[in-house]
Amino acid sequence: MNFRWILCLGVLGVCMGAFSQQKVLPQLGKDPVKDIIAAMTLDEKLDIIRGTGMKFTTPNAQGTVAGNIGGKVPGAAGSSHAISRLGIPAIILADGPAGLRIDSARFEDPDCYYATAFPIATALASTWNTELVNQVGKAMGNEVLEYGVDVLLAPGMNMHRNPLGGRNFEYYSEDPLISGKMAAAMVNGIQSNGVGTSIKHFAVNDQESNRNGVDAIVSERALREIYLKPFEIAVKEADPWTVMSSYNKINGTYASENYDLLTTILRKEWGFNGLVMTDWFAGRDFAAQVKAGNDLLMPGRKREVRSVSKALKEKTLAEVELDRNVEKILNVILRTPAFRDYKYSNAPDLNAHVSIARQAGSEGMILLKNEDRTLPVKSTNIALLGNASYDLFVGGTGSGEVYKAYTISLFQGLEDAGYVLDKDLENKYKGYVAKENAARPERQSVLDVVKPVDEMHLENSDLNQLAEKNDIALITIGRNAGENSDRCVETDYYFNEHELKLIENTSKAFHKKGKKVVVVLNIDAVVDVTKWRNCVDGILISWQPGQEAGHAIADVISGKVNPSGHLTTTFPLNYQDVPSAKYFPGTPAETPEKTIYNEGVYVGYRYYNTFKKQVAYEFGYGLSYTNFDVRKVKVNSGTFDNEITVNLKVKNSGKVAGKEVVQLYLAAPGKTMDKPESELKKFVKTKLLQPGESQNISFTLKSSDLASFDEEQSAWIAESGIYTIKIGASSKNILMTKTFTLKEEVNVEKVNKVLVPNEVIEKFKQ
Ligand code: BGC
Repeated sequence: MNFRWILCLGVLGVCMGAFSQQKVLPQLGKDPVKDIIAAMTLDEKLDIIRGTGMKFTTPNAQGTVAGNIGGKVPGAAGSSHAISRLGIPAIILADGPAGLRIDSARFEDPDCYYATAFPIATALASTWNTELVNQVGKAMGNEVLEYGVDVLLAPGMNMHRNPLGGRNFEYYSEDPLISGKMAAAMVNGIQSNGVGTSIKHFAVNDQESNRNGVDAIVSERALREIYLKPFEIAVKEADPWTVMSSYNKINGTYASENYDLLTTILRKEWGFNGLVMTDWFAGRDFAAQVKAGNDLLMPGRKREVRSVSKALKEKTLAEVELDRNVEKILNVILRTPAFRDYKYSNAPDLNAHVSIARQAGSEGMILLKNEDRTLPVKSTNIALLGNASYDLFVGGTGSGEVYKAYTISLFQGLEDAGYVLDKDLENKYKGYVAKENAARPERQSVLDVVKPVDEMHLENSDLNQLAEKNDIALITIGRNAGENSDRCVETDYYFNEHELKLIENTSKAFHKKGKKVVVVLNIDAVVDVTKWRNCVDGILISWQPGQEAGHAIADVISGKVNPSGHLTTTFPLNYQDVPSAKYFPGTPAETPEKTIYNEGVYVGYRYYNTFKKQVAYEFGYGLSYTNFDVRKVKVNSGTFDNEITVNLKVKNSGKVAGKEVVQLYLAAPGKTMDKPESELKKFVKTKLLQPGESQNISFTLKSSDLASFDEEQSAWIAESGIYTIKIGASSKNILMTKTFTLKEEVNVEKVNKVLVPNEVIEKFKQ
């Protein structure tokens, strides 16, 4: 064999070797995930368990600064690493929950990448309409898919523990059942598009003050019944692909480093099978995060690699623990559009989503007051007052902000509805608001909250003239909040002097002429109403209703839509009445190291109704332009045997079509356990009922609906005794009651004794 032959054979050998090596390399989707993991190097595993990092870009088209992961979807919050030799694509994660947050403008690209701004979560929950929320989810998920995103970082379902919570607008309610049901409807809607969700922030992240360090100290019972419950419902009813652990500590341990939270409860008790990711830059001990079952560390930093490698070397972390997390991540990647190589259009049908945003916006509005049928407004000339009438807040700031194509102003909405508005007043307000906005310091980041500008002063003579020329006055008062800071009692919860004067003086001027005044609350969260509500004839909470705001509000003002929203969070008489007021946001007040949930399960109406505290507007409250009767409430048995069914009929007994929310509260015997006066257990939103039309409603209660969490036994226990079913139009407006007996105590479910508080929590007293 001459030298040339030897060389040829040698080259052939190398090529065949390379070829066979290529062939044996497993590929994600074609080969079992276990084989992929076996073929991964340690460096690859350390890549896959953390994101690709995050850098901030220059301000985008909206004048905000969005996180840019570079590459595929600018403005998305993060992405995972690709490992192409094993067929593992990168996946893209982007924020919600009021719509997809991505940059609308791209470098050297003339196209716009707008997303629909839907109503904030509190507004969606106020519809009490899970089907509608599911539709919003479907539309939102379509935008996620068509913009090349794999997982939407939403919905959020922390609790409205206190009205000052800076991210309450991103959350649904003070009640865990409403929160869980809304979240499940949303997750099911979004995920029906073949994209994922990340339910957040797991758990007890109910404040922004020192959110990265605060220790939330909560009893086992309050944890199980109030703070974990919404997540449990969402996991069991909607199977979200991912869960985002929260920044804070719970009873001494960071949520993201908490094995009992992320593995014992989430996976073992509830059967969650997806991946857990950290909130952005959360926690301190990265190896502990991996150990706890926090699979993906976001947005991803070098220091995580160093710390996890060190723990592996020192054997405080085993490679099987790392592999377990890698497996979870790969299993989620397998479900993504990126893995399917979905050819996204970058052009979702935004027009198709406009009507859903508008309907959800108007259906989430709550009519608080309507003296002498002030609303709907049948006359034509409206004096439109208040800065927010000309500069509505349609969503909050922070990661929940959405870069939308437009906002329908209230002025435009009312004009489109056929009302006649004062152009001079419009120009005056617009000029004032623009000047005040221009005088503010430039927004440096998406975390800078845009607060309302001070109300424009109007002389009494101006108001008298307006009262002369117009049929009615409509005053919009705005509020805004966002991630990273809580709200302030003095300047945010209570109205300031200028706002109070505007309402008072306008009312005087209009009432003198026998004309009415309506206040629209364009708010993110609960505000005081007691100092001014007696001056006015009508109050409508519009919340922050998304980009179709002006149309959605006008739909209710005009009566095109009959308001059917109900409160999912209580409006107290006074901030000091809030059960957590004394403990929020914790101690020391400046940078709270801990916040003790002394109020236990007595959050919101559970507190007010049990301790007989008067409130301004109770949980579940909301007026309509029509009336409803509840009739024929029947329980199928007087004795509870595994379940019990309640049937009833609801009838529209008024003159216009409308929808009603039927609420079922349950009062337990409370012999051996402390029990709230009653708790929401079931609800339903009727279809649009025409005058005279009825709908049959049926609710079935299971033993789990009767149970409370017993800390001694670490179990959900249904006490024996007499239970009262209360059918209400709110938590206080109870229309019918029925009783049944549970003969013997039922141990509904035994769970693990975990997340025990690290200090004594006093039994809650008023
Ligand atoms: C927020 C999360 C958000 C993440 C990514 C964090 O600051 O708390 O809700 O999903 O950023 O933007």
